[in-house]
Amino acid sequence: MKAVYPGSFDPVTYGHLDIIERSAAIFDELTVSVLNNKSKTALFSVEERVKILEEVTKHLPNVKIDSFSGLLCDYARENDIHVSVRGLRAVTDFEYELTIAQTNSKLSKGTLDTIFLTTNLEYSYVSSSMVKEIASFKGDISLAVPAFVAKKVYEKFGY
Ligand code: PNS
Repeated sequence: MKAVYPGSFDPVTYGHLDIIERSAAIFDELTVSVLNNKSKTALFSVEERVKILEEVTKHLPNVKIDSFSGLLCDYARENDIHVSVRGLRAVTDFEYELTIAQTNSKLSKGTLDTIFLTTNLEYSYVSSSMVKEIASFKGDISLAVPAFVAKKVYEKFGY
């Protein structure tokens, strides 16, 4: 069975990686797909995010990296994928995620389901925005992202 893990991944964190590794162990094929969101200002371009994801998931043979624009349900249909994976860090994520899941179910006429994995407690506080904020002040992000990603983030901030 195939699944998609959609997101902004700006940048990918240990929290995302934990979800990717666990989903890859559940599904036959996992596509991690970066949303090309023109309305959101990102630190990394979609191409950069795809490259970074490829590097940090290279040990996972059934994971492929892609990007998409537009609606997730259209992307899933075009790629014959019927399951979307999302991570839940805390109860605060739930309301937003529930809305997305229900919207996708409606829009896809029931052909795209969402499966939630609860984030490992170790990373439940980690977010891409927090990583960017800390890095912008030259703070330590080593607990939140792999060294390869940290280097790229610091470079963006000119460190
Ligand atoms: O990492 P993020 O930013 O929380 O991911 C959000 C994402 C990409 C899952 C969501 O914004 C999305 O799927 N957007 C694509 C547009 C879409 O399908 N919208 C309808 C469902 S709300």
